Amino acid sequence: MSPAFSAVAPGRVNLIGDHTDYMGGLVLPMAIDLHTVVTGERGGDRIRLTSAQEHEAVDLALPIGDPAAVTPSWGRYVAGVAAQLQGDPGPAGAVPLNGLTGTVASTVPPGSGLSSSAALELAVALALGASGSPLELASMCQRAELAATGVPCGIMDQLCSAAGVADHALLIDCTTLQVTPVPVPADVAVWVVDSGRPRTLDGSAYAERRAECEAAAALIGPLPSAPFEHIDQLDDELHRRRARHVRSECDRVRAFAAALSADDPAGAGELMLDSHASLRDDFEVSTATLDELVAELSARPGVHGARLTGAGFGGSVVALTSPDVDLTDAGAGGRRVVASAGASVEDVADTP
Ligand code: GLA
Repeated sequence: MSPAFSAVAPGRVNLIGDHTDYMGGLVLPMAIDLHTVVTGERGGDRIRLTSAQEHEAVDLALPIGDPAAVTPSWGRYVAGVAAQLQGDPGPAGAVPLNGLTGTVASTVPPGSGLSSSAALELAVALALGASGSPLELASMCQRAELAATGVPCGIMDQLCSAAGVADHALLIDCTTLQVTPVPVPADVAVWVVDSGRPRTLDGSAYAERRAECEAAAALIGPLPSAPFEHIDQLDDELHRRRARHVRSECDRVRAFAAALSADDPAGAGELMLDSHASLRDDFEVSTATLDELVAELSARPGVHGARLTGAGFGGSVVALTSPDVDLTDAGAGGRRVVASAGASVEDVADTP
């Protein structure tokens, strides 16, 4: 069968600003040159997808039922997106939902903190014919992830995959949802280093952390702008630490974006180390393996800074380095990544 379309969506690495998006804070991810691609043809009343990476194919009858009940488990993301599109007449869902027959191929490693699920959601959404602005598509995919996994994730991953800009990181204000591209200077390189310990969001304390932050915010107001003296006055020690992380991390995102713009990679690297310490000590989402990897990497010549990236509890470390550094051998394997454009779909001419 000749593919009638090819939909592609990138993974992302977050340079700084973790566990801030769901509290309306600042994040600074970049879409990367690792992608999920869905090729196929639309039509019929089933969604049938095979995968180059997964043994089991997905075969869903329309209309979609409960996405969380779908097997194999990667099909939950497919079903989550399809369920949003069939149920949501909004701008990102204004499509009569047709079936689809195609294949999925991905270079975004699952469980490594590089948003393989967001890349799959965006690629499937475009494959199913969803249209809308990057923000509309991202919001729809964020709802799909919640329906598929029950994890109350923020919007960073989906919005970065949808709105990525080549050679730029994205400064996202998760209250206003304004996206400001920030050029990545030519004299730095970004590496992702796998810790070798996969994580799954639903297996983590992600929802618990979010609930702790919401409890603190209910007492003192939005955490990204909470005065530190209000945070210090919170009775519960856990609330104080969680809130201090969110507030200080937002300050670090702002300072990091300024350091990139001022071509001050050493300053940016220091902020990454501070971010890691805050995620480790105040937010408690690091692991011994991630801590050792950050310490080992940041001691190498030419490495400006390193930190866990994404939700934590395993996954990857991101490092900012000078261009001549090679971290291929680090951890369970390092890979240099380049800031890439966001998700897109194109018709593929039929071949005779
Ligand atoms: C996951 C979530 C994001 C964000 C990060 C932590 O990747 O999907 O919304 O909360 O964790 O920054």
